[in-house]
Amino acid sequence: MKKRKIIHRKPNLQFTENYPKHWHSNSPFKTHFLNSLTLIFPTGEKYFIRSIKCLLVNVQSEILQKEAKLFIKQESEHFKEHEKFFKVLKKQGYKLNSLVDLLDHIVNNLLEPYLDSKTNLSITAGLEHITALLAEISLEENFLDEAPQKIQDLFNWHAAEEIEHRAVAFDVLKEVTRSYSKRIQGIIIGYIIISSFSALTTTYLLYQDKELFKLKTVKDCSQLFFTEQALFIKAIKIFLRYLDPDFHPDNEKLDNLSSPIFNSLFKNLGVA
Ligand SMILES: [Fe+2]
Ligand SMILES: [Fe+2]
Repeated sequence: MKKRKIIHRKPNLQFTENYPKHWHSNSPFKTHFLNSLTLIFPTGEKYFIRSIKCLLVNVQSEILQKEAKLFIKQESEHFKEHEKFFKVLKKQGYKLNSLVDLLDHIVNNLLEPYLDSKTNLSITAGLEHITALLAEISLEENFLDEAPQKIQDLFNWHAAEEIEHRAVAFDVLKEVTRSYSKRIQGIIIGYIIISSFSALTTTYLLYQDKELFKLKTVKDCSQLFFTEQALFIKAIKIFLRYLDPDFHPDNEKLDNLSSPIFNSLFKNLGVA
């Protein structure tokens, strides 16, 4: 098995500034779409960790065992740093507790216990494919360029590590099942979860701002999903790539994010 470079970094970000409420290009929609990811990631990443941990005993390859442990360490840092940003949002006046509790309840009590461990892992593998490809799009298009530096650091560091460990959950899944339908079932459920959680969370934050039914919100939403960034179109392509029976994350053309870009990113964060 090919050894991949996965490094456990601890950026320990401090969000000390008073960030504007609509910190992304003064757009409530774009800001809250990204805020929604921050709110969803901890629930998701804790689930990813549990789903891998519980099947790790079946992994024969020592290399993959080590990579899975590094995956767990990276994901643990991700949710810790995103949870720190919750405090910023609370300071800005947003009510979050009931929403975060609801997301946790859906995943931890209504989804995970009713699915077998292979299905849970297949959802993790599918969501890892989605996050790695979205990470690539975000880094390539400098999507965060208009955000405050610390928030850029948070998302860009996370994006880079998602690309770095993108194949781990997929390979662990391959060790426990070769079933194509199980793999596809995972990404379908994963898409439904991430889209509905993100829609619910973004809507709730926009509602709190009284920005839900504004023309600018509709315009920014259509720009992000259908025209400028065209995330919806890209998401369909991401899904279709995963349907290929010979798909493997290592074959995804993510290498155009050459290591000098990663290196300077990590250097700026002090975690090179
Ligand atoms: Fe992550
Ligand atoms: Fe990940």
